Amino acid sequence: MQSEVDLSAGLCENCHGGASHGAIIKEWDEYSSPSFDMQATLSHSEPTDIAEPSVPDSGKSCVSCKSTDGAVPNLAAPEIYDLNEAALPEPAAVTEWRITCTACHNPHTTALRVEDGVQLCANCHNGRETEADGAPTEYFYPSWEMYSSSDFATGVHPVELTCTDCHMAQKPAGAGTNRPASPGHTFNFDPVLLSDPETENGCSACHEENLASLVGERQENISDELKALRQLEENAGKALETANGTEAYPELGKAYNKALFHIAYVENDGSLGIHNMEQASSHLETAGTLLENVTEGARAAAAAEELAEEPASEAVPGFQAAISFAGVIGALYLRKMKTRPGK
Ligand code: HEC
Ligand code: HEC
Ligand code: HEC
Ligand code: HEC
Ligand code: HEC
Repeated sequence: MQSEVDLSAGLCENCHGGASHGAIIKEWDEYSSPSFDMQATLSHSEPTDIAEPSVPDSGKSCVSCKSTDGAVPNLAAPEIYDLNEAALPEPAAVTEWRITCTACHNPHTTALRVEDGVQLCANCHNGRETEADGAPTEYFYPSWEMYSSSDFATGVHPVELTCTDCHMAQKPAGAGTNRPASPGHTFNFDPVLLSDPETENGCSACHEENLASLVGERQENISDELKALRQLEENAGKALETANGTEAYPELGKAYNKALFHIAYVENDGSLGIHNMEQASSHLETAGTLLENVTEGARAAAAAEELAEEPASEAVPGFQAAISFAGVIGALYLRKMKTRPGK
């Protein structure tokens, strides 16, 4: 009989847990901090079976990024969209739902399972090329798709920036030691720390002003656009209800779902546009146009129906269900994204 493999962070904690040793465990283990806010914060240390109770009942593909048991075979195939599905465990066999040290590091050599500072992260933080097809929006996290065509990846920004350059601000403890005081294991984008000339990330060589204001201003534009879109979404949803049963209804419904997809694309990316300002704006513009068209089209269809003075033809129940489905699925994840503090 095979003994169970320990994938927990406890494996590394004895040596990498103390304050004198960079406090990597403490940085990583945000979940154990008394101030951790289950609703508002995402973290690698948060067990996904608790954060997202639907995950243990889901298929193997979720396990690939939502557990350390799944991360190990997933990262053994470093291609970004290759989940290595045949080697993935069933959800029932998962022993570690947190993304622990051994998800990213080989416990024997401590080397990273994938050396490249984009590929390692993008193996999980990708949207699997999901496209707007008019069906209800499902879970997808397109950080990689946003980033990969951005100025940071394509040579427009003066230096190429990887995921870890921005998400792992590393500051050494100081003279006489090369152990970082801030080893970057919260994985948060920390604009204050990144602006510190003592970090190893090198941003302050060019960004003399605090990165927080540069980033904050850009995020505010996207936040404002998102707010405006929520109003358009509400209008379109109401107009759509009045057109239920008309001939135009199914097509209008598809357009509505497509609009929600483009909004979710920007929200689920999680950076409020920073990963790719141009792409984020373009998604939101498309969403706005679609929603306006739905509102106009639905009103016209409802008016035409009334003119014809026919008894309303039968509603299309499948479609009605589809809309509420999109709403529910969206809400589960987005509620977390929207209540993130400090935006
Ligand atoms: C028995 C104590 C001990 C345990 C347990 C331990 N480490 Fe280490 N680790 C060390 C020491 C000591 C170093 C070297 C420190 C230095 O170079 O300043 C180190 C260095 C490292 C490095 C840096 C390697 C390099 O080339 O710079 C990584 C990464 C690492 N450990 C990850 C892990 C992970 C992941 C685990 C758990 C699977 C783990 N360690 C468990 C003691 C330990
Ligand atoms: C999500 C992936 C990921 C997880 C989870 C993770 N690490 Fe790391 N770790 C990295 C990456 C990437 C680097 C290299 C950062 C760099 O130098 O750019 C690194 C670097 C390190 C280093 C070397 C830092 C130095 O001294 O230069 C140590 C030690 C380490 N990790 C230990 C741990 C321990 C212990 C845990 C669990 C508490 C852990 N890591 C969890 C990705 C991860
Ligand atoms: C094995 C899959 C996996 C890998 C590899 C991975 N992540 Fe994650 N990451 C997750 C999951 C799952 C969550 C969300 C946890 C939750 O629901 O609370 C997450 C959350 C995050 C968050 C938000 C919360 C936080 O901890 O700050 C950031 C930022 C993040 N990851 C960045 C990275 C970066 C950068 C890398 C590469 C060094 C990386 N991730 C590698 C699975 C992964
Ligand atoms: C130019 C710097 C930069 C680069 C490069 C970058 N990010 Fe980000 N990322 C950010 C910022 C800024 C945020 C928003 C953080 C905030 O507002 O708290 C963010 C947010 C995120 C989030 C959501 C975090 C949360 O708490 O919800 C994830 C996940 C993430 N990034 C993953 C990645 C991955 C994966 C890559 C590489 C493919 C990457 N990032 C590259 C700056 C960057
Ligand atoms: C070699 C110089 C240089 C370095 C190093 C550098 N940047 Fe930049 N960065 C620039 C310039 C120039 C711009 C464009 C001017 C502007 O938009 O304000 C820019 C723009 C940006 C933007 C805004 C991009 C947008 O969408 O408009 C962000 C965010 C950013 N940098 C983050 C970082 C981070 C984080 C680091 C360190 C990990 C970094 N930069 C390192 C020169 C640099």
